[in-house]
Amino acid sequence: MSVAVKTPEKPGSAAAAALPAPGEKHRYVRAMFDAIAPRYDLLNSLLSARLHHGWRRVAAAQAALRPGDTALDVCTGTGDLAIQLARRVGREGRVIGGDFSLPMLRLGERKARRCAPAVVRMTLADAQALPYPSDVFDAVTVAFGIRNVADIERGLGEMARVARPGGRVVILEFNQPRNRALRALWRWLSFRFIPLVGGLVSGRRHAYEYLPSSVDVFQTREELTSLMERAGLGDVRVTDLMFGTVVVHRGVKS
Ligand SMILES: C[S@@+](CC[C@H](N)C(=O)[O-])C[C@H]1O[C@@H](n2cnc3c(N)ncnc32)[C@H](O)[C@@H]1O
Repeated sequence: MSVAVKTPEKPGSAAAAALPAPGEKHRYVRAMFDAIAPRYDLLNSLLSARLHHGWRRVAAAQAALRPGDTALDVCTGTGDLAIQLARRVGREGRVIGGDFSLPMLRLGERKARRCAPAVVRMTLADAQALPYPSDVFDAVTVAFGIRNVADIERGLGEMARVARPGGRVVILEFNQPRNRALRALWRWLSFRFIPLVGGLVSGRRHAYEYLPSSVDVFQTREELTSLMERAGLGDVRVTDLMFGTVVVHRGVKS
Protein backbone atom coordinates (compact mmCIF):
# COMPACT_ATOMS: atom_id res chain seq x y z
CA MET A 1 0.00 0.00 0.00
CA SER A 2 1.38 3.41 -0.95
CA VAL A 3 1.51 6.13 1.72
CA ALA A 4 3.01 8.81 -0.49
CA VAL A 5 -0.17 10.56 -1.60
CA LYS A 6 -2.55 11.56 1.17
CA THR A 7 -5.82 13.40 1.03
CA PRO A 8 -7.31 15.80 3.61
CA GLU A 9 -9.29 14.28 6.48
CA LYS A 10 -12.38 16.17 5.30
CA PRO A 11 -12.68 16.58 1.53
CA GLY A 12 -14.48 19.86 0.84
CA SER A 13 -13.03 21.43 4.03
CA ALA A 14 -10.94 24.62 4.07
CA ALA A 15 -7.83 22.41 4.29
CA ALA A 16 -8.79 20.54 1.12
CA ALA A 17 -9.69 23.74 -0.75
CA ALA A 18 -6.18 25.18 -0.25
CA LEU A 19 -4.44 22.19 -1.88
CA PRO A 20 -3.79 21.80 -5.61
CA ALA A 21 -4.98 18.68 -7.44
CA PRO A 22 -2.19 16.02 -7.29
CA GLY A 23 -1.35 16.42 -11.00
CA GLU A 24 -1.08 20.21 -10.55
CA LYS A 25 1.16 20.26 -7.49
CA HIS A 26 4.56 20.62 -9.22
CA ARG A 27 3.52 23.65 -11.29
CA TYR A 28 1.42 25.17 -8.46
CA VAL A 29 4.24 24.98 -5.89
CA ARG A 30 6.82 26.52 -8.21
CA ALA A 31 4.51 29.42 -9.14
CA MET A 32 3.70 29.95 -5.46
CA PHE A 33 7.35 30.19 -4.36
CA ASP A 34 8.22 32.38 -7.35
CA ALA A 35 5.50 34.77 -6.15
CA ILE A 36 6.24 34.83 -2.40
CA ALA A 37 10.07 34.86 -2.69
CA PRO A 38 10.50 38.59 -1.82
CA ARG A 39 8.67 38.16 1.51
CA TYR A 40 9.70 34.56 2.27
CA ASP A 41 12.51 35.25 4.77
CA LEU A 42 10.60 38.00 6.56
CA LEU A 43 7.57 35.75 7.02
CA ASN A 44 9.68 32.84 8.27
CA SER A 45 11.01 35.11 10.99
CA LEU A 46 7.60 36.60 11.84
CA LEU A 47 5.71 33.31 11.92
CA SER A 48 8.35 31.45 13.96
CA ALA A 49 9.50 34.37 16.14
CA ARG A 50 12.95 33.81 14.56
CA LEU A 51 13.12 30.26 15.95
CA HIS A 52 13.52 28.77 12.45
CA HIS A 53 17.29 29.41 12.47
CA GLY A 54 17.65 27.21 15.57
CA TRP A 55 15.66 24.38 13.93
CA ARG A 56 17.99 24.44 10.93
CA ARG A 57 21.00 24.37 13.28
CA VAL A 58 19.67 21.10 14.74
CA ALA A 59 19.23 19.66 11.22
CA ALA A 60 22.72 20.81 10.19
CA ALA A 61 24.22 19.12 13.27
CA GLN A 62 22.49 15.84 12.34
CA ALA A 63 24.15 15.93 8.92
CA ALA A 64 27.37 15.21 10.92
CA LEU A 65 29.60 16.99 8.42
CA ARG A 66 33.34 17.40 8.87
CA PRO A 67 35.69 20.03 7.45
CA GLY A 68 36.32 19.31 3.76
CA ASP A 69 33.02 17.38 3.26
CA THR A 70 30.59 17.89 0.38
CA ALA A 71 26.85 18.42 0.98
CA LEU A 72 23.74 19.00 -1.08
CA ASP A 73 20.77 20.98 0.24
CA VAL A 74 17.69 20.11 -1.82
CA CYS A 75 14.77 22.61 -2.09
CA THR A 76 17.24 25.12 -0.67
CA GLY A 77 15.04 28.17 -1.34
CA THR A 78 16.79 31.24 0.05
CA GLY A 79 19.65 29.07 1.27
CA ASP A 80 19.50 29.28 5.07
CA LEU A 81 20.29 25.60 5.64
CA ALA A 82 22.96 25.54 2.89
CA ILE A 83 24.73 28.41 4.69
CA GLN A 84 24.60 26.55 8.00
CA LEU A 85 26.09 23.47 6.30
CA ALA A 86 28.83 25.68 4.82
CA ARG A 87 29.91 26.72 8.31
CA ARG A 88 30.43 23.05 9.14
CA VAL A 89 32.41 21.98 6.06
CA GLY A 90 34.72 25.02 6.24
CA ARG A 91 36.70 26.59 3.41
CA GLU A 92 37.91 23.23 2.06
CA GLY A 93 34.39 21.86 1.81
CA ARG A 94 31.64 22.36 -0.79
CA VAL A 95 27.88 22.87 -0.45
CA ILE A 96 25.42 22.91 -3.33
CA GLY A 97 21.98 24.45 -2.82
CA GLY A 98 19.45 23.31 -5.42
CA ASP A 99 15.91 24.55 -6.06
CA PHE A 100 13.48 24.86 -8.98
CA SER A 101 12.37 28.44 -8.17
CA LEU A 102 14.71 31.00 -9.71
CA PRO A 103 13.47 33.95 -7.59
CA MET A 104 14.11 31.95 -4.38
CA LEU A 105 17.57 30.88 -5.62
CA ARG A 106 18.57 34.43 -6.57
CA LEU A 107 17.87 35.61 -3.01
CA GLY A 108 19.79 32.61 -1.69
CA GLU A 109 22.72 33.37 -3.97
CA ARG A 110 22.96 36.92 -2.64
CA LYS A 111 22.86 35.66 0.95
CA ALA A 112 25.43 32.93 0.28
CA ARG A 113 27.78 35.49 -1.34
CA ARG A 114 27.64 37.51 1.89
CA CYS A 115 27.94 34.60 4.34
CA ALA A 116 29.95 31.81 2.68
CA PRO A 117 31.20 33.00 -0.71
CA ALA A 118 33.78 30.33 -1.53
CA VAL A 119 31.82 27.36 -0.27
CA VAL A 120 28.17 27.53 -1.40
CA ARG A 121 26.99 27.24 -5.00
CA MET A 122 23.32 27.78 -5.80
CA THR A 123 21.88 25.98 -8.79
CA LEU A 124 18.60 25.14 -10.50
CA ALA A 125 17.74 21.54 -9.62
CA ASP A 126 14.48 19.62 -9.52
CA ALA A 127 14.32 17.44 -6.41
CA GLN A 128 12.57 14.74 -8.46
CA ALA A 129 15.43 14.43 -10.95
CA LEU A 130 18.65 15.63 -9.30
CA PRO A 131 21.34 16.51 -11.87
CA TYR A 132 24.14 14.71 -9.95
CA PRO A 133 25.77 11.29 -10.16
CA SER A 134 25.00 8.61 -7.59
CA ASP A 135 26.95 8.11 -4.34
CA VAL A 136 28.73 11.47 -4.14
CA PHE A 137 27.55 13.63 -1.20
CA ASP A 138 28.56 13.15 2.44
CA ALA A 139 25.16 14.56 3.43
CA VAL A 140 21.96 15.46 1.60
CA THR A 141 19.50 17.71 3.45
CA VAL A 142 16.10 19.27 2.92
CA ALA A 143 14.34 21.84 5.14
CA PHE A 144 10.60 22.42 4.81
CA GLY A 145 10.88 21.23 1.22
CA ILE A 146 9.98 17.53 0.94
CA ARG A 147 6.32 18.27 1.85
CA ASN A 148 6.19 20.47 -1.25
CA VAL A 149 7.69 17.98 -3.69
CA ALA A 150 4.93 16.59 -5.92
CA ASP A 151 6.19 12.99 -5.75
CA ILE A 152 7.67 12.60 -2.28
CA GLU A 153 8.85 9.01 -2.84
CA ARG A 154 10.71 10.05 -5.96
CA GLY A 155 12.30 13.01 -4.13
CA LEU A 156 13.45 10.76 -1.28
CA GLY A 157 14.75 8.21 -3.77
CA GLU A 158 16.82 10.91 -5.46
CA MET A 159 18.23 12.19 -2.14
CA ALA A 160 19.22 8.65 -1.17
CA ARG A 161 20.71 7.98 -4.62
CA VAL A 162 23.12 10.93 -4.59
CA ALA A 163 24.27 10.35 -0.97
CA ARG A 164 27.42 8.22 -0.70
CA PRO A 165 27.24 4.92 1.20
CA GLY A 166 27.43 5.94 4.86
CA GLY A 167 26.22 9.44 3.94
CA ARG A 168 23.39 11.06 5.91
CA VAL A 169 20.00 12.16 4.60
CA VAL A 170 18.39 14.76 6.87
CA ILE A 171 14.81 15.98 6.60
CA LEU A 172 13.57 18.97 8.62
CA GLU A 173 9.82 19.37 8.26
CA PHE A 174 6.66 20.50 9.98
CA ASN A 175 4.49 17.80 11.49
CA GLN A 176 1.67 17.47 13.98
CA PRO A 177 2.11 17.03 17.74
CA ARG A 178 1.44 13.48 18.96
CA ASN A 179 -0.60 14.76 21.89
CA ARG A 180 -4.27 15.11 20.83
CA ALA A 181 -5.01 18.31 22.76
CA LEU A 182 -1.83 19.96 21.50
CA ARG A 183 -2.60 18.78 17.95
CA ALA A 184 -6.07 20.36 18.08
CA LEU A 185 -4.59 23.63 19.40
CA TRP A 186 -1.84 23.62 16.72
CA ARG A 187 -4.39 23.03 13.93
CA TRP A 188 -6.67 25.76 15.23
CA LEU A 189 -3.80 28.24 15.50
CA SER A 190 -2.11 27.37 12.23
CA PHE A 191 -5.29 27.52 10.12
CA ARG A 192 -6.11 30.99 11.52
CA PHE A 193 -2.85 32.72 12.39
CA ILE A 194 -0.61 31.66 9.45
CA PRO A 195 -3.01 32.70 6.61
CA LEU A 196 -3.84 35.96 8.39
CA VAL A 197 -0.23 37.11 8.94
CA GLY A 198 1.09 35.52 5.73
CA GLY A 199 -1.68 37.10 3.67
CA LEU A 200 -1.19 40.56 5.16
CA VAL A 201 2.60 40.60 4.72
CA SER A 202 2.93 38.82 1.35
CA GLY A 203 -0.37 39.75 -0.28
CA ARG A 204 -0.59 36.03 -1.25
CA ARG A 205 -2.98 34.58 1.30
CA HIS A 206 -3.48 31.38 -0.71
CA ALA A 207 0.21 30.45 -0.18
CA TYR A 208 -0.21 30.70 3.57
CA GLU A 209 -3.47 28.74 3.43
CA TYR A 210 -1.61 26.04 1.50
CA LEU A 211 1.06 25.84 4.27
CA PRO A 212 -1.11 24.48 7.16
CA SER A 213 -3.16 22.39 4.71
CA SER A 214 -0.03 20.73 3.33
CA VAL A 215 1.17 19.97 6.87
CA ASP A 216 -2.26 18.53 7.63
CA VAL A 217 -1.95 15.90 4.89
CA PHE A 218 1.79 15.30 5.27
CA GLN A 219 3.14 11.90 6.30
CA THR A 220 3.25 10.98 9.99
CA ARG A 221 6.70 10.38 11.54
CA GLU A 222 6.23 6.62 11.08
CA GLU A 223 5.10 6.94 7.44
CA LEU A 224 8.05 9.18 6.59
CA THR A 225 10.41 6.75 8.34
CA SER A 226 9.12 3.85 6.22
CA LEU A 227 9.39 5.92 3.02
CA MET A 228 13.03 6.66 3.93
CA GLU A 229 13.68 2.97 4.56
CA ARG A 230 12.12 2.07 1.23
CA ALA A 231 14.46 4.60 -0.39
CA GLY A 232 17.44 2.63 0.96
CA LEU A 233 18.13 4.56 4.19
CA GLY A 234 18.77 2.79 7.47
CA ASP A 235 19.15 3.66 11.15
CA VAL A 236 16.42 6.32 10.81
CA ARG A 237 16.35 8.59 13.87
CA VAL A 238 13.48 10.97 14.61
CA THR A 239 13.85 14.12 16.74
CA ASP A 240 10.85 16.20 17.79
CA LEU A 241 11.29 19.96 18.24
CA MET A 242 8.71 22.53 19.36
CA PHE A 243 6.33 19.96 20.96
CA GLY A 244 6.46 17.90 17.75
CA THR A 245 5.35 20.65 15.38
CA VAL A 246 8.83 20.53 13.80
CA VAL A 247 10.56 17.17 13.28
CA VAL A 248 13.99 16.06 12.07
CA HIS A 249 14.34 12.65 10.39
CA ARG A 250 17.90 11.44 9.84
CA GLY A 251 18.77 8.28 7.91
CA VAL A 252 22.05 6.74 6.79
CA LYS A 253 22.60 5.28 3.32
CA SER A 254 23.53 1.64 3.62
C1 LIG B 1 9.21 26.13 2.20
S1 LIG B 1 10.49 26.42 1.05
C2 LIG B 1 11.91 25.92 1.99
C3 LIG B 1 13.15 26.67 1.59
C4 LIG B 1 14.37 26.42 2.45
N1 LIG B 1 14.79 25.05 2.40
C5 LIG B 1 14.14 26.86 3.87
O1 LIG B 1 14.47 26.10 4.77
O2 LIG B 1 13.69 27.99 4.08
C6 LIG B 1 10.29 25.08 -0.08
C7 LIG B 1 11.20 25.17 -1.28
O3 LIG B 1 11.10 23.95 -1.99
C8 LIG B 1 11.22 24.25 -3.37
N2 LIG B 1 10.70 23.10 -4.12
C9 LIG B 1 9.49 22.52 -4.04
N3 LIG B 1 9.41 21.47 -4.90
C10 LIG B 1 10.62 21.38 -5.51
C11 LIG B 1 11.15 20.51 -6.50
N4 LIG B 1 10.45 19.51 -7.02
N5 LIG B 1 12.43 20.70 -6.89
C12 LIG B 1 13.17 21.71 -6.37
N6 LIG B 1 12.71 22.59 -5.46
C13 LIG B 1 11.44 22.42 -5.02
C14 LIG B 1 10.46 25.56 -3.53
O4 LIG B 1 10.81 26.25 -4.69
C15 LIG B 1 10.86 26.29 -2.25
O5 LIG B 1 11.99 27.10 -2.45
